[in-house]
Amino acid sequence: FIDDIVATEVMDSRGNPTVKATVSLSDGTVESAIVPSGASTGKREALELRDGGDRYMGKGVLQACDNVNGAINDTLVGLSPFNQAEIDLIMKELDGTNNYANLGANAVLGVSMAVARAAASSLKMPLYRYLGGANAVTMPVPMLNIINGGEHANNSVDFQEYMVMPIGFDRFSEGLRAVSEVYHHLKKIIDEMGESTAVGDEGGFAPNLKSNEEPIQVIMKAIEKAGYVPGEQIAIALDVAASEIMNDTGKYVLSSENRELTSSELIAYYADMCEKYPIVSLEDGLGEDDWEGWKELTEVLGNKVQLVGDDLFVTNVAILAEGIERDIANSILIKPNQIGTVSETMQTVRLAQRSGYTCVMSHRSGESEDTFIADFAVALNTGEIKTGSTARSDRIAKYNRLLAIEAELGQFEYLGSSLFSK
Ligand code: PGA
Ligand code: ZN
Repeated sequence: FIDDIVATEVMDSRGNPTVKATVSLSDGTVESAIVPSGASTGKREALELRDGGDRYMGKGVLQACDNVNGAINDTLVGLSPFNQAEIDLIMKELDGTNNYANLGANAVLGVSMAVARAAASSLKMPLYRYLGGANAVTMPVPMLNIINGGEHANNSVDFQEYMVMPIGFDRFSEGLRAVSEVYHHLKKIIDEMGESTAVGDEGGFAPNLKSNEEPIQVIMKAIEKAGYVPGEQIAIALDVAASEIMNDTGKYVLSSENRELTSSELIAYYADMCEKYPIVSLEDGLGEDDWEGWKELTEVLGNKVQLVGDDLFVTNVAILAEGIERDIANSILIKPNQIGTVSETMQTVRLAQRSGYTCVMSHRSGESEDTFIADFAVALNTGEIKTGSTARSDRIAKYNRLLAIEAELGQFEYLGSSLFSK
C-alpha cells in the first residue's frame, strides 16, 4: 500500500520551479516523478498552480507541494498503488473542479506519475510494461524539433517548430541516428549562412530567417547533405502554434513576412507548402477557437496530411469527442499535464485510437530529466513522440530511454511511413 507521499520544489529546463513527487510503498519501494511545464499553453488546459509574489518571479510551486504533502497524502495513504484509475479519480474528487483549480494539475500529475512508477517498480516491471502490458510493442517515430521559433525562441520566425521525422527506417535507433546527422548538417549550414547556432527551449536552432518557408528550405538542404531522400526517408512536420500568432481581429500575423492572413488564406498557404515540400504532419495550423477554420483545414488537407490538435484539444477527452463529432483534425497531441492524471491521459488516447485519430506523445517546452513520456508512448502504442531535438539533456533523456527500451524489447514495431498511408 501507499505509505507516504512527499513533494518538493525542483527546477525545470528553463530554470523555473516545478513539482517533484515521491511515493513510498509499504514494501520499501520509493519512486519519484517531475512535472513539465508549457510556454505556449492552450486556454483550456488544466490549471498549473503557481504561488505568485516575488519569489521565483511568481512561479514558485510551494502551495502545490503543500497540497501534495497535506490533503493528497492524507487521502491516498493506505491505498493500493495498483489501481491507477481509482487513485486518479480520488484525487479528482478531492479537488472538486474539472481543471484541478484547487490542488493544481502540477500537484496531481506528479503524484499520479509517481504512483504508476512505484507500482511498476514494486512488481519489478519496466514502466512501459506495467502501463501497457504485453501489448506495449510500438517504438515511436520521433518528431524532432530542429528549428525553433514563435514563443520558444526570440528570433524572427513565426512558426513555433520545424521538425523532421525518420519515416524510412525499420527501427527507432536507426531513425534517431539519421535525424541526428541531419541536425549536425543543419548546424553547419546555418553557421555558413552567418547565422547564430544558439538553440531555443527545445534544443532546435533559432536563426533569424526571412520567411516561414526558409527554415524548410534549409532543412531540405540538411537532409540531402546528410545523404537521405527527403519525403522517402525523412519527412517534415510543423507545429505552427497558431493561437499565438492570432491578433484581436482573428487574423493570423506573419511578422517575418509582414502579412496578415485570414483562416482561408493561411490554409491556402499551407496547401501550397504541402505541395512543395514533404510535409506529413501539421500541428495547431489554426487557433484553438477557430473551429470553423479547422473544419475547412480538415476538408482541404485532412486526407493528405496528419492534422494534429494540441492547444485545440488539450488532451481533453470531452473536447476531443466534440472534435471527432465535427470532423475536426485527424490527430491529437498527448500531454499528460494538460489534463492532469495518467488515467485521464489514457482515456483520451483510447478515444482517439477508437476513432481513427493518430496520437503523438509529447513533452512540454519546460522539461526535466524525467522520462515518463518515453515509456508512456511505448505503453500506449502511440507510434509517434515529440520530444525536442538531439541537443539538451532534458530532451536527450527521453531519446536515451527509448534506445534502452528498444534494446530491451528485441521484438518491436516501428511504423515509419505506414503511419501516414491512408
Ligand atoms: P509548450 O509547447 O510546451 O510551450 O506548450 C509545445 C507545443 O506547443 O507543442
Ligand atoms: Zn503544439
